[in-house]
Amino acid sequence: MNFLRLIERKRDGQTLADDAIRALVRAFTTGNLPAYQMAALLMAVYFRGLNREETTALTLAMRDSGETLQFPPDPRPLVDKHSTGGIGDKVSLPLTPLLICLGFRVPMISGRGLGITGGTLDKLDSIPGFQTLLSTKRIQKIVQRTGGVICGQTERMVPADKKIYALRDVTGTVPNLSLITASILSKKLAENLDALILDVKFGTAAFMPTLAAARQLARAMVSLGRQCGVRTRAVLTDMNTPLGRAAGNWLEVKESLTCLEGQGPADLRTLVLTCAAHLLVQTGRAANLAVARRQATACLDSGAPRRTWDAMLRAQGADLKAWHRKLAQPAAAPTVCPLKAPQGGWIARCDARIIGEVVRDLGGGRQTQEAAINHAVGIDQMAKPGEWVERGGVLCRVHAADGQSAEAALAQLPAAFQLTAHPVKPARLIWGSVR
Ligand code: URA
Repeated sequence: MNFLRLIERKRDGQTLADDAIRALVRAFTTGNLPAYQMAALLMAVYFRGLNREETTALTLAMRDSGETLQFPPDPRPLVDKHSTGGIGDKVSLPLTPLLICLGFRVPMISGRGLGITGGTLDKLDSIPGFQTLLSTKRIQKIVQRTGGVICGQTERMVPADKKIYALRDVTGTVPNLSLITASILSKKLAENLDALILDVKFGTAAFMPTLAAARQLARAMVSLGRQCGVRTRAVLTDMNTPLGRAAGNWLEVKESLTCLEGQGPADLRTLVLTCAAHLLVQTGRAANLAVARRQATACLDSGAPRRTWDAMLRAQGADLKAWHRKLAQPAAAPTVCPLKAPQGGWIARCDARIIGEVVRDLGGGRQTQEAAINHAVGIDQMAKPGEWVERGGVLCRVHAADGQSAEAALAQLPAAFQLTAHPVKPARLIWGSVR
């Protein structure tokens, strides 16, 4: 294959054949195509785009670049959820045990946070002893036995995406619809799913700034997922406001537990139940969304998913004694201080981007992929749009490693909250779905 010729073809706006795309992906993954040539190709794709057939070929080539998960025949369908990422997005944690209790198998391969958006694996790392780095064999075993697992991509799964994403990250080629679609779906297709629900977020702290852009991405992913044999749907959700009342790794694990115990914040509960309901309909286990929602609600409220959460912790090696000790502490961070409202008013805005930046600056997120993070820090008790707060009432609390970083956070945070004298409607969370 003449790789230079292929780069030139894409540069000139021509299409690439299936076998050419496969050869490019294989060569780059095995070290036979230099990064400078792949970077040139990615930039050509960024400007010229990929058509539907090219995007499919890229997705499948990336999926096939490594091991895929194989599961034995079983009446329990294999399902998963993927979120495009946001602040306070802890849905995977309560959703996984709920789906297990609804009769699904859930091989949930998750990622780490980068920049301001949180990552499920970082949240789970705050649980003492919990293992997220598992071999393919172990993933398969735990899924069959416990019903589900939440872990990282193994070294051997979709290595092409790991290499290509790292290159996109440093060449300004991340925000391209086809490349995002191929990247996300190649990983999900490697799980050999029956059904997938995508949570495509839009807003100040999301990858997609507007609802229209989120819908476009959702349509591309749903269409490709279906074409590849996975019953795929997407929900479009707001990420101008953080999800729930807590952002920061350990604080989000604690909030997930309140959701499993039936007391969690309403928006988190709504999104968890909505994702579960869509999967019930997608797999033919419920006739429509209203029936499915009732089924999911009854299951969550039965307490069974809370017990399954404990079984998941045991299966993934958590130190249960240390976990219970940590849960019993009022806070894991040494310094906790409130941000108080300067006057009484209705919350008109709680800006997810600013909250995300503050959590990252407290040490709860990373600037580079290798950076260490502090799992204890973050923000909780966030007031939500539509709520009334008295003068001196708590807008949120800062959990910090020391007084100095708490002060810095308290200086940044007032910009996140806007108060008005008039009643405000609560922020709408779900803006539609793509089927
Ligand atoms: N998440 C991914 O996994 N890949 C992308 O390209 C963007 C977001």
